[in-house]
Amino acid sequence: MMLQHLLKRRLVTICSVRSGRRNVVTNTDIAERDAIRGFQDIPGPSGIYQWPYIGLRLQLKPFTQFKITRLDQLMMHYKHRYGPICKVRMGKRWMVFLFEPSVIETAFRNEGRYPQRPTIMLLEHYFKGQSCPSVSILQGKEWFEMRRPAQRTLKKPQTLAKFIPKLSEVADDFVDKFKENNVMENLPLPCLEYSTEGSGTLCFGLRLGCIRNKVGGKEAAILEHVRGFFGILGESMYSVPWYLLYETPSYRRFVEHITFMTRTAGEHLQRAKLELRNKTTDTDDANLMMDMINTPGMTTEMISKNLVDLFIAGLDSTAMALTFLFYQLARSPDKQEKLFEEIRDQVPASGPILEDALLRLPYLKACLKESFRLVFPVSIGSTRVLQKDTQLLGYNIPKGVSHSNNE
Ligand code: HEM
Repeated sequence: MMLQHLLKRRLVTICSVRSGRRNVVTNTDIAERDAIRGFQDIPGPSGIYQWPYIGLRLQLKPFTQFKITRLDQLMMHYKHRYGPICKVRMGKRWMVFLFEPSVIETAFRNEGRYPQRPTIMLLEHYFKGQSCPSVSILQGKEWFEMRRPAQRTLKKPQTLAKFIPKLSEVADDFVDKFKENNVMENLPLPCLEYSTEGSGTLCFGLRLGCIRNKVGGKEAAILEHVRGFFGILGESMYSVPWYLLYETPSYRRFVEHITFMTRTAGEHLQRAKLELRNKTTDTDDANLMMDMINTPGMTTEMISKNLVDLFIAGLDSTAMALTFLFYQLARSPDKQEKLFEEIRDQVPASGPILEDALLRLPYLKACLKESFRLVFPVSIGSTRVLQKDTQLLGYNIPKGVSHSNNE
């Protein structure tokens, strides 16, 4: 085989006629063509680690030193061991991890109008057969149509500005709570309380009481359901999906968590519609629910499903983004001081943060970006399913395989 390759590389230049034009096929072309290797040649964990469903599980604690909560470390291990590309069995599917920015760019540039995102099997199973499922399991035009209403508001900084005063109150509560003890134990938890409170404010215009009123009552319950939901969802990605065969206790709990959140969103929506009818609330009230109520063509079910999606989507990601930002700042006291000075100079000591103040905080933006660069808060990065056969780093990757960026 090796000899064949060498011989081909030594071939003299061949001339060929294609489409009426005379094209020259050089030695380099031939060498490049022959150098393309198959999917099976991509490096990655081998043997039992390639078994469907349990292959990835076996690479985590207690079988190895990698914790399920530190997937970033497992990714780094892949990068060092296998180089810029490696393939890993995720559930029953294959995923190709890319670790080089230019290759990541090529892979993303290949996606069409409707990027196909791999779905999480547990969510797929739960939403299967529902008339108006979550945006997380939709693809193509259906996904685009469901996503569009909220996207209109969320992608424009001008429209986002109206949420700032209320979100600034949430931030004040977070800081006040920190000031009480001057220490935050188990940082991801207070950050999750903050992001849940912020998400409730953004989506429903409501204070949920997650930062302050933690004991008893519905407000505390939502936090429990949020944590339960993410715990089971995360675990499901590395476990055998027994729930496909029968209703496992953990699947039952998952349904309880998501049902609670869906019911809560539905109740808030009904209440807002009633208040609008009774004119006890204003259509200008700054929250995504009101935006959607004002969007022509959105049914109650669409609004409710969209709100649950948006409420959930921002929780773990924001909490992790903050956790890592605080962690990086704690490790670099000089940068922390510089950021503190910028904020002190630009943001008034009391009252809400105003939009223009946010525009005068370039160092804050830089810190956040640097923190994202050092540890991206969504450990698996952005993932896509290839919609056509694609060549990356000399490997032919068939359509249907997912790729994830993790530089
Ligand atoms: C710093 C905080 C956040 C980070 C790091 C983050 C990260 C991400 C990432 C990596 C994706 C996948 C993007 C892709 O594959 O192209 C995503 C998607 C998404 N995020 Fe966030 N996010 C954050 C905050 C939020 C917030 C606050 C919301 C809601 C208000 C939100 C709603 C969404 C939605 C709706 C999607 C797309 C789901 C889909 O179309 O499949 N995210 N986010």
